[in-house]
Amino acid sequence: MSDTRVRWGVLSTANIGRAAVNPAIQASANGRLVAVASRDGERARAFARDAGIPRHHGSYEALLDDDEVDAVYIPLPNALHREWTIRAAQRGKHVLCEKPLALDPGECREMAAAAEDAGVLLMEAFMYRFHPRTELLLARVRAGAIGEVRSIRSTFTFRLTRPDNIRLDPHLGGGALMDVGCYCVNASRTVAGAEPVEAQAFANWTERGVDGELTGALRFESGLVAHFDCALTLERREVLEVAGLDGALLVPSAFLPGRADAPLHELRGRAGESVETVAGADEYRLMVEHFGDAVLHGSPLRYGPDEAERNMRVMAALYRSARDGGRPVAVAP
Ligand SMILES: NC(=O)c1ccc[n+]([C@@H]2O[C@H](COP(=O)([O-])OP(=O)(O)OC[C@H]3O[C@@H](n4cnc5c(N)ncnc54)[C@H](OP(=O)(O)O)[C@@H]3O)[C@@H](O)[C@H]2O)c1
Repeated sequence: MSDTRVRWGVLSTANIGRAAVNPAIQASANGRLVAVASRDGERARAFARDAGIPRHHGSYEALLDDDEVDAVYIPLPNALHREWTIRAAQRGKHVLCEKPLALDPGECREMAAAAEDAGVLLMEAFMYRFHPRTELLLARVRAGAIGEVRSIRSTFTFRLTRPDNIRLDPHLGGGALMDVGCYCVNASRTVAGAEPVEAQAFANWTERGVDGELTGALRFESGLVAHFDCALTLERREVLEVAGLDGALLVPSAFLPGRADAPLHELRGRAGESVETVAGADEYRLMVEHFGDAVLHGSPLRYGPDEAERNMRVMAALYRSARDGGRPVAVAP
């Protein structure tokens, strides 16, 4: 471990790495991006040159053998998260893995166990949780600003245009719930501060067998219901609304607000609507720095792999319901 900064390696030349997370690592106060790996050595070389990454490897294995790497960021297709997280942990690398952490709760448990056995950290890369507006939303809800929360509504949809996209491939862990609905489930559980007891979902499946559109509802013990829709086929829509007995909070562009100042709307009966604006931030960089602090200084991770497993349990129940025509399914406790 270099003393003051985490030395990061990235497994693959994925778009999300290139566009958001690799630059966030490079801009971070406590990290350096030292290596990239690709299945194709020439692709790794060109990517490293274009992104100013000092070293490149022609296989993921080779990067895991690189002693100058302390932590890896894994933006592989979802079906490969388990394998490469476990391999990285076994080589003593800390792992920041893209969402969803795995394909099912059992995989999450295996990954968590591998990290624990190796004494390394593992976190799922839900970056929206680190945006200060999300933190403000949670603080408002916890402080009782809108009273008891009874309804949460969220949406994350966008239209995929390329048929060869990994999100449309059932063998790579594709599907709307896996790709964007996972945010809605995560935000619902996080805002509720509890786990749902029952899940129900309706999906439209693509010819290749992934959910192109999925609408779900989660019932909590308290009577709170969270409902959401996600899709790979619809206009870009992204919102989170939390309604309590005394008011409501609305979060536009809840997951990907970009770097612009971010509004949080509050509705309060006769008092009408007020808007608090949170200064723009790079949520990817905040996530990377949080993980880096945990690696360097042992500060606690706010979201460990157990949290990812709980999200995946809810997603598994939603998929079971959707495959069974919308029958309500108990969420495994
Ligand atoms: N947090 C966010 O904001 C966010 C946004 C988008 C995506 N994601 C997540 O990030 C991950 C990657 O998404 P992406 O859109 O960036 O993917 P992508 O551009 O398609 O990249 C995936 C990379 O994985 C490697 N790969 C290895 N085996 C592969 C296979 N069989 N088929 C295709 N690629 C393979 C390829 O890199 P090499 O050829 O270089 O080895 C490829 O570039 C997913 O888990 C996704 O859910 C997160």
